[in-house]
Amino acid sequence: MRAMVYRGPYKMRVEEKHKPTIEHPNDAIVRVTLAAICGSDLHLYHGLMPDTRIGHTFGHEFIGVVDEVGSSVQNLKPGDRVMVPFNIFCGSCWYCARGLYSNCHNVNPNATAVGGIYGYSHTTGGYDGGQAEFVRVPFADVGPVLIPDWMHDEDAVLLTDATPTGYFGAQCGDIVQGDTVVVFGAGPVGLVAAQSSWLMGAGRVIVVDHLEYRLEKARSFAHAETLNFTDYGDIVLELKRQTDWLGADVAIDAVGAEADGNLLQHVTTAKFKLQGGSPVALNWAIDSVRKGATVSVMGAYGPIFSAVKFGDAMNKGLTLRMNQCPVKRQWPRLFEHVRNGHLTPREIVTHRFPLEHIAEGYHVFSAKLDGCIKPLVVPTAA
Ligand SMILES: NC(=O)c1ccc[n+]([C@@H]2O[C@H](COP(=O)([O-])OP(=O)(O)OC[C@H]3O[C@@H](n4cnc5c(N)ncnc54)[C@H](O)[C@@H]3O)[C@@H](O)[C@H]2O)c1
Ligand SMILES: [Zn+2]
Ligand SMILES: [Zn+2]
Repeated sequence: MRAMVYRGPYKMRVEEKHKPTIEHPNDAIVRVTLAAICGSDLHLYHGLMPDTRIGHTFGHEFIGVVDEVGSSVQNLKPGDRVMVPFNIFCGSCWYCARGLYSNCHNVNPNATAVGGIYGYSHTTGGYDGGQAEFVRVPFADVGPVLIPDWMHDEDAVLLTDATPTGYFGAQCGDIVQGDTVVVFGAGPVGLVAAQSSWLMGAGRVIVVDHLEYRLEKARSFAHAETLNFTDYGDIVLELKRQTDWLGADVAIDAVGAEADGNLLQHVTTAKFKLQGGSPVALNWAIDSVRKGATVSVMGAYGPIFSAVKFGDAMNKGLTLRMNQCPVKRQWPRLFEHVRNGHLTPREIVTHRFPLEHIAEGYHVFSAKLDGCIKPLVVPTAA
C-alpha cells in the first residue's frame, strides 16, 4: 500500500509499505477514505517530540471503510463506514471505566501518562497512523463507530480530533453564564473552542493569534472578538485593559508547544530542545485571567518540563484543567450539535491534498501558506 513515511524532521515521503494485517482477534483493518493533518502532527514534523521514529506513518484523524476484521470483532463487519477516535483505548481498564479514554492503561508501554494515539511518536505507543491507504485499528469493538448516514465525510473526519478537542477545551474551562473566555490560538482547535464557548454560555469570546487570516476566520466562523498579539507591546496588559482590569474568567490554550511571541522560549524549545514546549500562550493565559479563574490547556506539550509560571497560577488560585481529549466521550453530544448546525466543523477545511502530495500538505500547513487552516488528505485507493 501507499503510506506517508517519516524520514526525519521536515522529510515526509510517500512510500510503498506492507499493508497492515490482523495481529489480534479484536483488530480491524480499515481502508482510509479521508484523513487530516493536525497541529499535533506539526510537532512531529518539526522534530520536537521525543522518540519519533524513522519509518513511522503519522495520522490520527481518519475515517474509512472496514476491510477486514479479527475473529472476536462483533460490532463491525467488512464494508462498514467508520470514524475512528484518535485515541486507542481498551474500554475496560481503571481509566477507561472512568471515561479517561486518552489515559488508557493497556495500550502503551509508557502508560504512566498518555495512552495510545495513532501515528504519533512512540511515547504514545508507536501505532502506525491513517495517512495511508490502510490502517490497523486495535480494539475495533471499542473505539470506532459507524458514520451516521446524515453526516458529511468532512465533518466525520473532523470529529475524530479537532472538533472534540476544541469542545473539550471549552468544557474544561468550566464556563458559566456570561463568562469572558479568551482563546489563545486560531487554529482548528482554537476555532472550535471559540465556537463551543458560546454553547456553554459565554458572554464574550476573544481569540488571540498573530495570523490575520485566521483571526478573520475567528470572526466569521466563531463570531469572536479578535486580538493580533503583534499589534500590542504587551498582550496581557491589553487583555486586562479590555476586561475591566480584572482579567478574563476563562482562558483556553489552543497553541501548545510551539508558541511564538517570546524569542527566549522559542530558542530554548525549538533550537536547543531544553523544554517540553514553549509555554508562551500558557503563561499569557495564566497572567491574563482574573484571580480564581480557570485555564484549560488543550495545546500539546512534550514529556520534559516547560518554564510555566506556576507560582503565579498558584498564588492567583487558578484551576488548571487539561488532557488529551477523550474523543469518544464527546461524540453523543457532538453528533447532536453537528446535526443541529450548532457546530459546523467542515467550514474550517481549507485544503485537500492527495496522499501522494502529503509533503506539500505538511509544508503548506506548517508554514501557514495559502490561507491554510485545516488540510485534509485523500488516499489514492479511496
Ligand atoms: N489535547 C488534545 O487532545 C489535542 C488534540 C489536538 C490538538 N492538540 C494541540 O492543540 C494545539 C493546536 O492545534 P491546531 O491543530 O489548532 O494547530 P495550529 O498549528 O493550526 O494552530 C496553532 C495556532 O496558534 C497560533 N499561535 C502561535 N503562538 C501563539 C501565541 N503565543 N498566542 C496565540 N496564538 C499563537 C498559531 O499562529 C496558530 O494559528 C497543538 O498544540 C496541538 O498539538 C491537542
Ligand atoms: Zn491531533
Ligand atoms: Zn483502557
